[in-house]
Amino acid sequence: MWEVVLAVMLMSIGTPGHAQSASQDMFNVKTMPDPVTRYQACGRSGPSFVCDPNNLLQESQANRLDELLKDIYNETTIPCYASGPRASRRRGYLVMVAIVNKMKRLHTVNITDYSQQVRYMEAQYFSYYLGNELKWGRHSSQCNEMVIIFYSNEDQVLYTSTQPQARKLLTDDIVRTAVLETISADYPYTEPGQLASALMRLVRTYGTVLREEVAPQ
Ligand SMILES: *[C@@H]1O[C@H](CO)[C@@H](O)[C@H](O)[C@H]1NC(C)=O
Ligand SMILES: *[C@@H]1O[C@H](CO)[C@@H](O)[C@H](O)[C@H]1NC(C)=O
Repeated sequence: MWEVVLAVMLMSIGTPGHAQSASQDMFNVKTMPDPVTRYQACGRSGPSFVCDPNNLLQESQANRLDELLKDIYNETTIPCYASGPRASRRRGYLVMVAIVNKMKRLHTVNITDYSQQVRYMEAQYFSYYLGNELKWGRHSSQCNEMVIIFYSNEDQVLYTSTQPQARKLLTDDIVRTAVLETISADYPYTEPGQLASALMRLVRTYGTVLREEVAPQ
């Protein structure tokens, strides 16, 4: 029952320039670990909303990103937990970040030309299925409030997937604009600090939007 609806953006400018990551393992959605339960495999030292298995971020940077994500969860209330029987079990919007050095192809494996368009499709598939209830989507509720920010360094893709409840606030237009602004600021990221600030900028923007009150229907 995980209808995840997608919002998007891909960027591909210049050459990928990231410093070598500690681990060169490639991931697909099946092998991507869950940072809440398998945080060590995600390069984190405790349960986290960030999975960075190739260690593209430094630990302090991932920690700061995590704090922003936990603040969003803590300082928002999803509408279906705002009143009624669920109100005492408040839940906020769940924004999680997946960072890989390179995708291991799964969905587009039979397409020979691994063009920008195809990498985009692969990233879309990756993010979409991370929202599955067998994957990270298990942390989302039946209200479908999860947002997944996905970045693949060598594939040069930054993608955001939004579940329907989150998407009511974080519309495709807002996501597209935010991702374009993020990318145009300092892409390609040649050092971890640039990737970290780009992701933090994006998360802050999403946080501002998700904190907006919506008028009751
Ligand atoms: C959430 O906010 C409350 C009140 O501001 C604070 O006491 C609590 O530690 C926060 N929890 C997390 C996980 O940040
Ligand atoms: C790729 O092609 C093989 C052989 O034709 C097929 O079995 C497989 O399902 C295809 N994979 C995808 C993801 O389309």
